[in-house]
Amino acid sequence: MAACLRELIPAQTIRARVAELGAQISADYRDKPLILVGVLKGAFVFLADLAREIAVDARIDFVRLSSYGMKDRPQGLKFTMDVSLPIADSHLLLVEDILDTGRSMAFLQERLSGRGAASVKLCTLVDKTGRRETRVRADYAGFRVDCGFLVGYGLDYAEAHRGLPGIFELKVDGQ
Ligand code: IMP
Ligand code: MG
Repeated sequence: MAACLRELIPAQTIRARVAELGAQISADYRDKPLILVGVLKGAFVFLADLAREIAVDARIDFVRLSSYGMKDRPQGLKFTMDVSLPIADSHLLLVEDILDTGRSMAFLQERLSGRGAASVKLCTLVDKTGRRETRVRADYAGFRVDCGFLVGYGLDYAEAHRGLPGIFELKVDGQ
């Protein structure tokens, strides 16, 4: 099965947009205790770049989720790695690679907001709007696309392509 990659968002466009997001977040969280919570693995590149564009001295933490149940019929989500910092009274900004159906972010927002955080907001690199199943919306979104499977800049397909500097659409022949 042959696959091809088509560049959608070049590295310099991502860099400029991440700088804009960083400036906006810096203004919104000035003088507030902020924790950036990266969602592993996909958000690791975005989080590393975004953190360096934020003027507020944010603390950094990570979570990891996995779904259980059949691949085509997922039953639920669970933490495979929880935050390690105390979050009570801090402002949490979830940093995600792609918001797709919204199920992961609905789960995370619900779990984390019950623990006394001052606020829980969401920053996603890509807001993929075409398959949304929940009411979750991004407070900050780098780019909006309707559909397509994206790789690069941290995003993977079966663990491949995370190291590409830009964002590419992956097309598999016959699909
Ligand atoms: P959601 O729970 O459906 O919103 O799932 C979001 C997760 O699925 C993201 O955090 C990604 O890890 C993964 N995902 C969704 N779309 C893509 C894609 O186009 N490329 C790579 N990963 C994706
Ligand atoms: Mg993800």
